[in-house]
Amino acid sequence: MSEREHWAQIHATKGDAVSWFQPVSTESMRLIRACGLAPGAAVLDVGAGASVLVEELLAAGYQPALVDIADSAFVRVRERLGDCAQALDFIVGDITEVVLPESAYDLWHDRAVFHFLTEPGQREAYMSALRRALKPGGYVVIAGFALDGPEKCSGLPVCRYDAMGFAAQLGEDFELLESAREVHPTPFGARQAFQYTRFRRRTKG
Ligand SMILES: C[S@@+](CC[C@H](N)C(=O)[O-])C[C@H]1O[C@@H](n2cnc3c(N)ncnc32)[C@H](O)[C@@H]1O
Repeated sequence: MSEREHWAQIHATKGDAVSWFQPVSTESMRLIRACGLAPGAAVLDVGAGASVLVEELLAAGYQPALVDIADSAFVRVRERLGDCAQALDFIVGDITEVVLPESAYDLWHDRAVFHFLTEPGQREAYMSALRRALKPGGYVVIAGFALDGPEKCSGLPVCRYDAMGFAAQLGEDFELLESAREVHPTPFGARQAFQYTRFRRRTKG
């Protein structure tokens, strides 16, 4: 089964019964708010899945765009949003392949997607997409399993990071502003250690 098929099946069959489900995106929203973006700022949620972050971004006055490898991820999001969904950009594609609009976003958010990229070439492709799509001076909020987190997510192997690990992946063009850990309670009673980080892209010159 391809990765796209794996994720399409999960989104089509599991609903909220997935380990990463959160009823509220507390830590993501705290870090996004800390960036002090202007109302209407464009926020891209990478590997958005069926997360409620989109509603939280709209309530905070931002303009969200969502990208996911599986179109079935967006079925429930569209249902929840109703007419509001029409004003949003839903992008279906693998983040290591999709061509995103250039310098389009003020903030790039990723919770539990980068950690699936176990090959250096995949991470390079992800960084190319990020560099293309994020405005100079834009922010990155990225979270994945911490060094003491699980070795797999959704049955797939992951790479685990601490704050310096994420900083090394993003490179010198990104300044680490803040990091935080969160122990995520899954709907099945397990606890998963997440590392959250917030970066700002340096402006050149
Ligand atoms: C663990 S879930 C996290 C979902 C969401 N970010 C959240 O926190 O609830 C990973 C999500 O990334 C998507 N995904 C996995 N690999 C991807 C890729 N290469 N490109 C884009 N999306 C991907 C999956 O379909 C899924 O929705």
